[in-house]
Amino acid sequence: FMLKEIFEGPEAVENSSRGRVMVKEGKAKLGGIESVSQKLEKINRLIITGCGTAYYAGMLGKYMLEEYAGIATEVDNASELRYRQPIFSPDTALLSISQSGETADTLAAIREAKKMGLTTLGITNVVGSTIAREVDAGVYNHIGPEIGVASTKAFISQLIVLLLLALHLGRDRKMSASEGKQIAAEIAVLPSKMRRIFRFKEKIEEIARKYSEYDNFLYMGRKYSFPIALEGALKLKEISYMHAEGYSAGEMKHGPIAMIDENFPSVFIAPRDSVYQKTLGNMEEIKARDGKIIAIATEGDER
Ligand code: F6R
Repeated sequence: FMLKEIFEGPEAVENSSRGRVMVKEGKAKLGGIESVSQKLEKINRLIITGCGTAYYAGMLGKYMLEEYAGIATEVDNASELRYRQPIFSPDTALLSISQSGETADTLAAIREAKKMGLTTLGITNVVGSTIAREVDAGVYNHIGPEIGVASTKAFISQLIVLLLLALHLGRDRKMSASEGKQIAAEIAVLPSKMRRIFRFKEKIEEIARKYSEYDNFLYMGRKYSFPIALEGALKLKEISYMHAEGYSAGEMKHGPIAMIDENFPSVFIAPRDSVYQKTLGNMEEIKARDGKIIAIATEGDER
């Protein structure tokens, strides 16, 4: 089921964005949060919460909402948020993310936020789930059931919904029409780009086989690739029972690099983005310690 759902990733993007992207206007239409649109206009701070994979999606959501929508955003594990004593101003909204819509810690964090009078939003997949019913407003993933225990297509869908949210809120705030149009156009072509990755499945299998005897892995990336590194390490642990840690590549030199030698491979998520050169620098440091590197890079990047 997990493999099947990995291959359903492009479809998940299509299903989660269908009818929600206005390419010509460079806007997103999210019917599920229209009822709270006036409240959202006054929001100056967002707290995103969730567990596991949903939490990592939230970390990426923070980067998107700050960069594109200009909204100060924090992310907290629901299991931390519910037990600490957070201070929320009235202009704060809580955005919970949960595939199942039933995760106890996430639900408890929502209930705490409600007690404090915050507007609560949810991104859930299961229609009519407890979280979907308890939040003030929300957006469904619409990707059908996720049967695999390890979240795959739901993670991808959560990222798309967060991007739609950043587009929607951003266009009401700091985002220009041209930037909005660019994002909307990219969402439309994303499924075909994702399908291109599947052409490399034999190559990916070959790499997996080659590294199947190692005991430890470090997953690294910067900026948007940092939460992806955390998610990658989680997937390896959960599915292969191998030890893996996710780290921001910039933090590597502050400790974890001590573990690196020829028996401790690193997986770098290194697309050609705004932090590409910085990531390359980190890869050089790994190589200087005889560390092996598996790089997930932009097609055609030979460096
Ligand atoms: C990891 C995984 C879990 C879930 C987490 C939250 O592959 O599936 O970490 O993401 O238990 O579940 P939901 O999203 O249903 O609240």
